[in-house]
Amino acid sequence: GSGKFFVGGNWKCNGTKDSLSKLVSDLNSAALESDVDIVVAPPFVYIDQVKNSLSDRIEIAAQNCWTGKGGAFTGEISVEQIKDLDCNWVVLGHSERRHIIGEDDQFIGKKAAYALNQNIGVIACIGELLEEREAGKTFDVCFQQLKAFADAVPSWDKIVIAYEPVWAIGTGKVATPEQAQEVHAAVRDWLSKNVSADVASKTRIIYGGSVNGGNCAELAKQEDIDGFLVGGASLKGPEFATIINSVS
Ligand code: G3H
Repeated sequence: GSGKFFVGGNWKCNGTKDSLSKLVSDLNSAALESDVDIVVAPPFVYIDQVKNSLSDRIEIAAQNCWTGKGGAFTGEISVEQIKDLDCNWVVLGHSERRHIIGEDDQFIGKKAAYALNQNIGVIACIGELLEEREAGKTFDVCFQQLKAFADAVPSWDKIVIAYEPVWAIGTGKVATPEQAQEVHAAVRDWLSKNVSADVASKTRIIYGGSVNGGNCAELAKQEDIDGFLVGGASLKGPEFATIINSVS
C-alpha cells in the first residue's frame, strides 16, 4: 500500500442531532489504531455539532461543495464556509451525486480544483455501474473519471482516490478482494503513466462499497488497498472502529 491507511465514514443524508450525538460519543470512546487517518463526513447541517463534540483524533469532511467562491448560489455551500467550520476535506464525485443528482466529470473537476486551491483535501470518487462492468468497461469508465480529475487539479498532494463500484454501494454486495485489487492496481498504473511515478506511489487508493466489520480485514490485506470509504457501517460506532482497526 501507499502512505498511511485512510478510513472515511460517509454518513450521507442520515442522522438527527440525537443519533449523531450518540455516534460521536461511541467514536470518542472507541479504541482506535494510531496509524490511520480517520475522516467522517456528516451532513452539512450537523458539521458544526460534530466538530464541536468529536475527538480531534478524527477529521471532518464535507460531502460536497460549490465550484467556486460563495455568492448568489441558492442551496450551495462554499469551500470557504467548509473551512470556516474547520473541515479539512471534501468528498467529490460520489456516485450518488453523479448518477442520482447528475453531476458530470467537468463539474466535479472544477470543484476539486477549487477545493485544492483553497487547501482542502479531496476524496475523489470513481467507479463503474454494473452494466459497465458487465460490458467490460470498468477500466475505461474509471480512467475517464480519473482523467477528469487529473485534467483539472493543480496538484495531487491532498487527494485520496476512492474506488467505489456502484453495484457494491449500499447493496451488501461487496467487491471481492481480487476484484478491488485489480482495479486499484490499474488506477495506480494509470497514475504512473499519466501523472507521475511519484504520485502513483504516494496517492492513497481506498475502496468503498458494502465494507463492513466482517469483510474489511481481507480487503485491507490487498497490496493496493490503502483504506476504505464506508457508508452504512460508518453509522455504527463500534463497527466503524473495527474497520479502522483492520489496518494491516
Ligand atoms: O461513500 C461510501 C460508499 O458509497 C459506500 O457506501 O458502505 O453503504 O455501501 P456503503
